[in-house]
Amino acid sequence: MTSTFPDISISTDRLVLRPFEEADIPELTAMMNDELTAAWTSVPIPYTHADARRWIAGHAPAERVQGRGIVFAVDELLTHRLVGSVHLMNTNWHALSTEVGYVVAPWARGEGYAAESVLATAHWLFHDQKFERLELRTAAGNTASQQVAQKIGCVSEGVLRNALIVRSRTEDGGWTDIRTDLIVWGLLPEDLEDAPPVEYSAG
Ligand SMILES: CC(C)(COP(=O)(O)OP(=O)(O)OC[C@H]1O[C@@H](n2cnc3c(N)ncnc32)[C@H](O)[C@@H]1OP(=O)(O)O)[C@@H](O)C(=O)NCCC(=O)NCCS
Repeated sequence: MTSTFPDISISTDRLVLRPFEEADIPELTAMMNDELTAAWTSVPIPYTHADARRWIAGHAPAERVQGRGIVFAVDELLTHRLVGSVHLMNTNWHALSTEVGYVVAPWARGEGYAAESVLATAHWLFHDQKFERLELRTAAGNTASQQVAQKIGCVSEGVLRNALIVRSRTEDGGWTDIRTDLIVWGLLPEDLEDAPPVEYSAG
């Protein structure tokens, strides 16, 4: 039998992490059509409504059902606006280890939403799911993402040289692939022991 994460939502002080719904298509499309997301992730450029629909109806739920991970839409609690996405992937159920990826909508950045959503996910993963490791991989030049990793207490474990293709703007306004190093970060349950407690609830 395939191991899977439960179909749950996680609430924090300011955010709700929950499954994507069809109604998120316009906001997800807007969020993904962004310079930083295009540069540092492998999303389609441009990101269309059809891409969002395929993600929400197909790939995102399949990640959970097929045991690879779980995809959360992240809402602002007060406004119900979609502010981001957190994706657990490449889960190893024997090692109880998984990897996290995240995006925050451009207009919602700098508020600590990435750190808050990933930290709550980590607490749920370690306490409720009894996982032993959360891994994060950032491109060497992705300073904002490295700030998030450091803020939540991840330890920088090493560099995979030349391991990643990212994208950079060309003079004519297009995009070109460039090869870069990848920094591997790890978070273990004990890394969170000295961190301030995070209020979260899952159900
Ligand atoms: C990475 C990303 C998710 C961060 O989202 P966010 O909600 O702004 O993150 P937070 O507010 O929790 O923290 C961001 C931190 O990075 C800092 N930061 C942001 N841009 C920065 C930059 N260019 N240089 C240095 N620090 C930067 C912020 O000041 C903040 O640190 P602080 O709280 O100590 O002030 C967002 O920039 C994003 O969606 N980027 C595109 C997709 C992406 O790169 N995903 C990660 C792939 S590994």
